[in-house]
Amino acid sequence: MEKSDQVDKNDGISRRNFLAGAAGLAVTAVITEFPNIVHAAAPLTLPQLPYADNALEPVISANTISFHYGKHHKAYIDNLNKLTANTEFADMPLEKIITGTAGKSDKVAIFNNAAQSWNHAFYWKSMRPKGGGEPPDALKKKIEASFGGIDALKKELANAAMSQFGSGWAWLIKDQGKIMVMKTGNADTPIAQGKNPLVTIDVWEHAYYLDYQNRRADYVNAVIDKLINWDFALENFEKA
Ligand SMILES: [Fe+2]
Repeated sequence: MEKSDQVDKNDGISRRNFLAGAAGLAVTAVITEFPNIVHAAAPLTLPQLPYADNALEPVISANTISFHYGKHHKAYIDNLNKLTANTEFADMPLEKIITGTAGKSDKVAIFNNAAQSWNHAFYWKSMRPKGGGEPPDALKKKIEASFGGIDALKKELANAAMSQFGSGWAWLIKDQGKIMVMKTGNADTPIAQGKNPLVTIDVWEHAYYLDYQNRRADYVNAVIDKLINWDFALENFEKA
């Protein structure tokens, strides 16, 4: 046997093993990349609310939740399923649809509906009945290291929510080990930029208009003080 044949055979075996291993790693990466959102096989389904529709009263009414969740969130998922039927995106997890369409001018409708589907699932988890108050100690230390104190963080998050012109979202994210505030317009989402969200506040008018009309500040401050789910923020911080 020629030496070159020997090398080719060994190379072939090792390449096959490598490819099998790489495929396994790729599957693992997809499953664990965004562990807080449940992946659904196509067609995507509306995830369950983590509480009853009146559980956030009096800050957010059952009426607002029933429209916001039952009409708006559902519509994003229904539209996305229609837009992705029989396309390369039909069987993709939501997060992959978002990163695969971000910044592409011919995929704007798919991106918008996918990002809004993801953002809303994350928003429902970002609040809880009897939320707000003091964060858990482990998160409090991170907040103090990043902002000097919880009041400074709350003020900066509220400012981001109020200064977002038109529709959008205010976020706490983890960036290079620190907690930071950011805002995004319309459907845009930090995960499209590879960032790690901790919690979000929806500042589209449909999130608050039935309860607060044009008083966005009252809605934002009430969510921060009475509903924000600090345990969810800590869980996301530790996983990021
Ligand atoms: Fe919304």
